[in-house]
Amino acid sequence: MNVLIIGNGGREHAFAYKIKQSSLCKNVYIAPGNAGTALEGINLNIATDNFDALAQACIEKNIELIIVGPELPLVKGIRDYFELHPQVKHIPMVGPSKVGAQLEGSKDFSKQFMLRHHVPTAQAKTFTKENLAEGLRYLETCNMPIVLKADGLAAGKGVIIAQSLTEAKQELTEMLADAKFGAASASVLIEEFLQGIELSIFVLTDGEDYIILPEAKDYKRIGDGDTGLNTGGMGSVSPVVFADAAFLQKVESEVIIPTIQGLKKEGISYKGFIFIGLMNVKGKPYVIEYNARMGDPETQSVLSRIDSDLLELLQAAATGKLKQVQYVATSDYTVSVVMASGGYPGDFKKGFDIKGLSNAQTKVFHAGTKNVNQSIVTDGGRVLAVTGRGKTLAEAREKAYETVGKINWEGVTFRKDIGLDLMNWKNG
Ligand code: AMP
Ligand code: GLY
Repeated sequence: MNVLIIGNGGREHAFAYKIKQSSLCKNVYIAPGNAGTALEGINLNIATDNFDALAQACIEKNIELIIVGPELPLVKGIRDYFELHPQVKHIPMVGPSKVGAQLEGSKDFSKQFMLRHHVPTAQAKTFTKENLAEGLRYLETCNMPIVLKADGLAAGKGVIIAQSLTEAKQELTEMLADAKFGAASASVLIEEFLQGIELSIFVLTDGEDYIILPEAKDYKRIGDGDTGLNTGGMGSVSPVVFADAAFLQKVESEVIIPTIQGLKKEGISYKGFIFIGLMNVKGKPYVIEYNARMGDPETQSVLSRIDSDLLELLQAAATGKLKQVQYVATSDYTVSVVMASGGYPGDFKKGFDIKGLSNAQTKVFHAGTKNVNQSIVTDGGRVLAVTGRGKTLAEAREKAYETVGKINWEGVTFRKDIGLDLMNWKNG
């Protein structure tokens, strides 16, 4: 099978790596990819939202399965575009339609969806510029802290947790009246703050059946001990010890089944991933957000625990045959440590030579990297994700950090505590 993966992050490198291992795989193409994906397959220099050029490449390369990595092309309607294109509409795709992707693309849409289908979630009210005054009055009735969420895609920056009423009012005004996040904050949700521990659940569905993939914990802040600015994710761990069987059972019955059935009831044909950001509040799951894709760097840890043929699984999801495939995940632990450019998530410089890649003893997934004159140089904020796998969390951490210690470039930064909080975790 010829496969096209759309995206250029560590997530897409992980997909390419696993897909290449499948006996069903003939060629794997990545658009646009990075220096790491170039080691697994062939990069095509096409932007993720250039649908015309992607369709053309599918025709030329005789692509038989498309996997859409990031949210942007999904929210812009890549599936809808392909389904209307006579020469590519037959190609199975992993990724929902534009309306399905609204689960991620509009926080108001996803909140209303959860309420319609009785999926447990925090209470929220949505306001626009027109009723800003009402929003400000509403804030006076809320307990602090309070969560303000830009309705649309804001590159992971659209959520503000305000500690005081003054801060909340100022933020709401900036988001609505001053368009702090552009069109994304034309509507803002004021949402109850949930106190608990977060984890991410990943579901692969063909619209009828579903597979629950290994869960993961993401480390979002730049600094050790969850300090400093928010990032795209500085590390991930799977499995998550506090997600015990009883909790996961509740997630399936209270969240996953109502979500899949809700999509069906609303006539939204959904073939792809649903990434569910959850808060565990005293053993009860609440949905914080849906994403219409896999997470990054969660994918690197999650896929590294899947021992079945990933390509077979993805093809089955894209063609409505998920019921027919075998799925096996190992009980091993995986830990992914992101190595980033100095300064990230603020300003940073690119183009530094990455040294020591050939000394790696565990898998190194690339994100912001590119090839320049036969060397691999930094080309983004998050540069690499080093993934270790072991029988215990300690072993997986050790393997990941051993390799991290062998790789270097000017200004490199990484968290030293990925998975540390879960090492001696006691439930209850
Ligand atoms: P999101 O962009 O929706 O993933 O939100 C970013 C982060 O904000 C989440 O990972 C949570 O840590 C936090 N967050 C979002 N909603 C809530 C909530 N209702 N209560 C507490 N924290 C939240
Ligand atoms: N790591 C969080 C995300 O992919 O959205």
